[in-house]
Amino acid sequence: MSQVVRVERQGDVALIKVDNPPVNALGHAVRDGLLRAFREAEAYAAVRAVVLVCEGRTFMAGADIKEFGKPPQAPSLPEVVEAIEASSKPSVAVIHGTALGGGLEVALACHYRVALVDAQVGLPEVKIGLLPGAGGTQRLPRLVGVEKALEMIVSGNPVKAPQALEYGILDAIVEGDLAEAGLACARRLLDEARGPRRTGERQVQGDAALIAAKRAEVEKRMPGLFSPLRCVEAVEAATQLPLADGLKRERELFQQCLESPQRAALIHAFFAEREAAKIAGLPADTPVREVRSAAVIGGGTMGVGIALCFANVGIPVKLLEIDPSALDGALQRARGTCQASVERGSLSAEAMEKRLGLIQGVLDYEALADVDLVIEAVFESMEVKRQVFERLDAVCKPGAILASNTSSLDLDEIAAFTQRPQDVVGLHFFSPANVMRLLEVVRGKATSAEVLASAMQIGKRLKKIAVAVGVCDGFVGNRMIFQYGRQAEFLLEEGASPAQVDKALRDFGMAMGALAVRDLSGLDISHAIRARQRPNLKPGQTLPTVLDHLYAAGMLGQKTGAGFYLYPEGSRTPQENPALQAMLEASAAARGITRQPVSDEHIVERCLFSLVNEAARILDEGIAQRASDVDLIFLNGYGFPAWRGGPLFHADRLGLDHVLQRIREFHQRFGAWWEPAPLLERLVAEGRRFADL
Ligand code: 3HC
Ligand code: NAI
Repeated sequence: MSQVVRVERQGDVALIKVDNPPVNALGHAVRDGLLRAFREAEAYAAVRAVVLVCEGRTFMAGADIKEFGKPPQAPSLPEVVEAIEASSKPSVAVIHGTALGGGLEVALACHYRVALVDAQVGLPEVKIGLLPGAGGTQRLPRLVGVEKALEMIVSGNPVKAPQALEYGILDAIVEGDLAEAGLACARRLLDEARGPRRTGERQVQGDAALIAAKRAEVEKRMPGLFSPLRCVEAVEAATQLPLADGLKRERELFQQCLESPQRAALIHAFFAEREAAKIAGLPADTPVREVRSAAVIGGGTMGVGIALCFANVGIPVKLLEIDPSALDGALQRARGTCQASVERGSLSAEAMEKRLGLIQGVLDYEALADVDLVIEAVFESMEVKRQVFERLDAVCKPGAILASNTSSLDLDEIAAFTQRPQDVVGLHFFSPANVMRLLEVVRGKATSAEVLASAMQIGKRLKKIAVAVGVCDGFVGNRMIFQYGRQAEFLLEEGASPAQVDKALRDFGMAMGALAVRDLSGLDISHAIRARQRPNLKPGQTLPTVLDHLYAAGMLGQKTGAGFYLYPEGSRTPQENPALQAMLEASAAARGITRQPVSDEHIVERCLFSLVNEAARILDEGIAQRASDVDLIFLNGYGFPAWRGGPLFHADRLGLDHVLQRIREFHQRFGAWWEPAPLLERLVAEGRRFADL
């Protein structure tokens, strides 16, 4: 018997224990062990029932994702699952932690299921480009009906044990020792002479209208994604075919997903997220400072969102503003944001009050004397930051972490305003801060290991994807997006329209077009950044001028009703801005070019490869630790399509020699911005990819 699966005889019950840390993934050894254990139980006459439990922090969290894309090794998970369900002896799965994917499929094959109250169950395969491939799409609808099964399988979101009980996925909520609870349950079954109860033998009611509606919803809400539609198709098969045929259909659809490039990209994103937590030179056991309370300075767009992040996870937070009316406005905006969640039904009125109760408005820095962490989110001005950090240095207790949300100022300069630069770190949230998952954790040259480790941990507590980055203008994400936005503007001047540029990028998969994003964040901000960057331009690095024309005309984006697009009467739907044409003609004339048609393919290449070239410099300078960190930043902060894996994963897929060749051509045609990054040239010369770094 393999080590990862052990069997203990407890009278007439076989107790099967899976022990494959950290998450009891169903790798080959576990599958093999489970099959043997269930077969053995079947073979021994003295065994009358089976209990399945897992050691460690969780029930099986799914198939071993690392095995996908490698040659399959028997037994397959479907084979194991079929053997479990077919068994003539009643089996009980005892769930704790998370029974996910293949883990839940194993539990569904067991004849009865119980769980601890804080357990969760789900079929998240769709999130990694797959569908449940071991009977999940056939058994779950048989258990909970088509509607709930579709919801769980297409969203991939887990449900908590009490809800799973209500749905009929679980038979009971248990407490105490897992094995004891399972054994008690098995004994009861034997006492009551209840034999196997096979989910696969149940009938499922078809509902064509429901399935059609889900299909339409998926097409609308998840454009470009391959696996969600296959999930719907597999559930539909459960309503139309006998179990064996449905399982066969599921397998075919699973295989299609497995072979799809999207699966590889989404799994890249999954592991990128886990890798980002690891920082070179920062041991996992680096001590971290406890953060029991926080404060935010500045209750503007970002400050309010950041304060909500803390309140949302139950950490009390003080919000400091310059005067009572600004403070009142900030607290009103926090309430407004929560109120919108209540109206959408995602938050109860009671929970809202509890959250808002955690945000305390203050006007006096003395109120910050006892907090463990302060995040500054005042105007983007070095002088204002200086005043704030000098005050913080004077009032905050020793050991408090002092963070700045600056999006582009030099963190080292900010840290130097204090006598404790080792305690200063950047926490760069993205707007809206309470929604966006990305958090760039900016490591200054003096930031201590302890403060960096603490900042990464805070990110995790706030349920953010924290990625460590170094200090430079724009850090990783914005530094890259500056290049991308500049190319979008050059393309306008060369002949494209904003609608064409944005549509080409959306068709590629970007959540929003580059120019619509700029109108949303405000062209005054772009203009200020441009002005700041102008003195540092290298020879030959010219700037597009369309932004200057818009700025001069007071067209600052959505907030003024006009920018790259027009937004009549407060509308958020972009329309053509008729004033733009003349501005673009003037810009083109100043560049000495004639505007002419540009292809969509060219638009995507220009914007995308500008990201790749800049990322190569960022990696070379050590500003980002690894290529997958860059991908993670773009997936979670800039609406890059997850199914393409991120700009660098995508570049690897296109072939870096191809990418470099195009960049060289652009260098010839469009000049200095396109000077190939040395790292890219080295990688191509060595036949390596970003993934090999
Ligand atoms: N396979 C392989 N490794 C896995 C894994 C899996 N299914 N799930 C997690 N891991 C690894 C992680 O990579 C990480 O490794 P590391 O420590 O070396 O970085 C470690 O386990 C711990 O994971 P997390 O850091 O994510 O731990 P958390 O406690 O935050 O979360 C979890 C635990 C909720 C289980 C989360 O890891 C998760 O969601 N895992 C993926 C679940 C999933 O997608 N299951 C479906 C798999 S596909 C499938 O089952 C196909 C089937 O239908 C045929
Ligand atoms: P904002 O202009 O909306 O808010 C700034 C707030 O700070 C105002 O409410 C102001 O009253 C307050 N304030 C100014 N000086 C203060 C002081 N000395 N003490 C206390 N409060 C003070 O600005 P926004 O957009 O929230 O930006 C704040 C910071 O976050 C900037 O550094 C910005 O670069 C950064 N940032 C902004 C993002 C965005 O999308 N808006 C994204 C990421 C970072």
